[in-house]
Amino acid sequence: MAFSYSSFNFLFLSSALLILSATVTSTHHFRIKEATIRDIQIQFKDEKLTSRQLVEFYLGEIRKLNSLLRGVIEVNPDALFLADKADKERKVKAAGTLNWLHGIPILLKDNIATKDKLNTTAGSFALLGSIVPRDAGVVMKLRKAGAIILGKASLSEWAHFRSSGAPSGWCGRSGQGRNPYVLSADPCGSSSGSAISVAANMAAVSLGTETDASILCPSGSNSVVGIKPTIGLTSRSGVIPITPRQDTVGPMCRTVADAVYVLDAIVGFDGRDADATRKASKFIPHGGYRQFLKPDGLKGKRLGIMRDPFFNSVTGTVITQAFKHHFNTLRKGGAVLVDDVKLSNMDIFSNVSYGEQVAMLLEFKSSIDAYLKELVVSPVRSLADLITFNNKFSKLEMINEYGQDYFLAAQMINGTVNVEKQLRKIFEKFSREGLEQLMRKKKLDAVVTPGSDISSVLAIGGFPGISVPAGFDKKGVPFGICFGGLKGSEPKLIEIAYAFEQATNVRKPPSFKP
Ligand SMILES: *[C@@H]1O[C@H](CO)[C@@H](O)[C@H](O)[C@H]1NC(C)=O
Ligand SMILES: *[C@@H]1O[C@H](CO)[C@@H](O)[C@H](O)[C@H]1NC(C)=O
Ligand SMILES: *[C@@H]1O[C@H](CO)[C@@H](O)[C@H](O)[C@H]1NC(C)=O
Repeated sequence: MAFSYSSFNFLFLSSALLILSATVTSTHHFRIKEATIRDIQIQFKDEKLTSRQLVEFYLGEIRKLNSLLRGVIEVNPDALFLADKADKERKVKAAGTLNWLHGIPILLKDNIATKDKLNTTAGSFALLGSIVPRDAGVVMKLRKAGAIILGKASLSEWAHFRSSGAPSGWCGRSGQGRNPYVLSADPCGSSSGSAISVAANMAAVSLGTETDASILCPSGSNSVVGIKPTIGLTSRSGVIPITPRQDTVGPMCRTVADAVYVLDAIVGFDGRDADATRKASKFIPHGGYRQFLKPDGLKGKRLGIMRDPFFNSVTGTVITQAFKHHFNTLRKGGAVLVDDVKLSNMDIFSNVSYGEQVAMLLEFKSSIDAYLKELVVSPVRSLADLITFNNKFSKLEMINEYGQDYFLAAQMINGTVNVEKQLRKIFEKFSREGLEQLMRKKKLDAVVTPGSDISSVLAIGGFPGISVPAGFDKKGVPFGICFGGLKGSEPKLIEIAYAFEQATNVRKPPSFKP
């Protein structure tokens, strides 16, 4: 009940602000709220909008909405300075020479390092005051493109790798993030703040990270588009790790096109994540990904509908009906639906999934220690230090309530190189005889699944996926549809996702229901 009153207030205030921001008008009644990168770039070109106005708008929205939604941990004290710099550059540089992200404010999940006034803490007090050696690889690319780092987004603390008992979207530093559609609903995680914030127009675009479901799930739950790229397509250097075998950085935005412009800016080789980014660089198409934003992108695509176990476990008539309708839309768009495809080795999935947990614990221990050691200044230098910190400041980190079972398990586990190698073999075999074989045999361009249910299959294989808004359940909570494919299949997935989005147009701004 308390929420319904405040959400009414918020709605009222934000529409009042809309009227104010309507000073930035054009013949098309341009509004910053819900504006896409394309809309913004047209306004820039016509000199009807500045980056300063954009940043001022988003800072205003954060001031009004964030105490309720908690999608943002910190705003960049230099954001307005950076906006002025972008506005000056736009005046002196020749039209058409600037990147699509030039002058666009972007919010970064708080596990992505920035060497500026912002902290990089994975949402935890343990890393507050630490100093990173340099910008993350993707941040270097964003700055080069001219994007404005607006701030840091909240997350499930430590990308949900501290406590299995902590709710999604909770972190010590900013508390519980809320789903802007239905405030009492799960925002999902771990890139919760990135999704919440773009959904509620507190930023133009955002970055999240995924190890297993952390982009795809919150994207679905907050009605935004999330791209989980092929492993190594985007650099993980300077990203607080779980495991380099599965970690990936990707865009979370209100539209497929926005996500693709962001993807274009962040992909590519990085000497600090050399092996993985070199291998994946061969997938990057000449001319980038934006050429695949085709309204007829569904034409001729072969889509595998994975009923068992995925669509078969969907409950609720509203959602079931929505997917049925979407299958028709996909067909009408010219796709061939290959119905009821399944992985031949799904029966061993729970065992493989258990192996994934073990591997993540082993790999986290070494990866997090390496990340912490590289910090210029830090109150903690190892997993052991983190555990000690949490015990010492148990109130701040709600240790009595949520615990730190993942940390403790990772600290206790003693794998050998041999165990890790064996697990890798099991994962490779599972992917080879599972998704890879299925896609080849049925000549599929993508598989289609509800929500983020297929995330572990994609995570284990290093495969990409895109979540697109697919509807709202009977309470008004958003859900997504996921298009997944083999490594490097982003061009096809983008064609499919974009055409689906254009045909369905499901997303609408949040309603702030209690
Ligand atoms: C980063 O953390 C420090 C505390 O260590 C705080 O004083 C500072 O304001 C934080 N930076 C931002 C941009 O919020
Ligand atoms: C289950 O997984 C473990 C390792 O995670 C492996 O050693 C074992 O052979 C697997 N069992 C089956 C039936 O696949
Ligand atoms: C693993 O090694 C640590 C020391 O590095 C030890 O304290 C711990 O008991 C060991 N755990 C197991 C399960 O053997």
